[in-house]
Amino acid sequence: MQQLIAGNWKMNLLSRPAAALARDVAAGSAGLHCGLAVFPPFTALAAVEAVLRGSPVMLGAQDCHASVSGAFTGDVAAAMLADAGCGAVIVGHSERRHYHGETSAGVRAKAVAAAAVGLLAVVCVGETEVERDAGHAVDLVCRQVAESLPAGFSGVVAYEPIWAIGTGHTPTHDDVAAMHGAIRQALLRHLGSDGAAVRILYGGSVNPDNAAGLLAVPEVGGALVGGASLTAEKFLAIAAAARHG
Ligand code: PGA
Repeated sequence: MQQLIAGNWKMNLLSRPAAALARDVAAGSAGLHCGLAVFPPFTALAAVEAVLRGSPVMLGAQDCHASVSGAFTGDVAAAMLADAGCGAVIVGHSERRHYHGETSAGVRAKAVAAAAVGLLAVVCVGETEVERDAGHAVDLVCRQVAESLPAGFSGVVAYEPIWAIGTGHTPTHDDVAAMHGAIRQALLRHLGSDGAAVRILYGGSVNPDNAAGLLAVPEVGGALVGGASLTAEKFLAIAAAARHG
């Protein structure tokens, strides 16, 4: 399975620079051995969609509501994202779990809503530094996987150690291998043989210098990139480091 390199633009970029970045990413996508996806803020989706239409770069959003419609001021339904041209949506990013109190049960409901309208759900999991230091990281992340993924899940999991996000710190390759291997086992327990087909992305301070090493780790199915995805050159350099095949 091809690796997937996904850019999470977070709360950055107005429409015009977002469209310019998307144009540069699309222009540089030819000849790569991986899939590409970008996740602009809601307000830039239309501008980016116009640029990416007909390109191999998938468009995604950073969150959705679990309900189809209703009195949820400020929220956006999965069907609205599909209507805006999205093919994917991130759910359960640690920043949403932390700043918005999202629970794994709530994340699972969002993943269900995404799948119902044909969006690829990118479900994020990951431990804090305190949890890792206490030796609980693997148990905690596997529990997040079991609680956040609905039955029949066919999206993507992103393992993002919270202490690695935006810090420049990354786990060792051995730690990434151990965690991704444990997540694979959790997926197989939870989803049966379908769990073998779920890509497991690594996220947290991925940059052009460390990408090749991280992407070569067994069971790493790609990367979810924050800061380095805001520069086309860096994002494409990470994509160029993807494993062949
Ligand atoms: P980072 O963010 O690459 O800036 O560490 C990753 C993420 O939060 O998805």
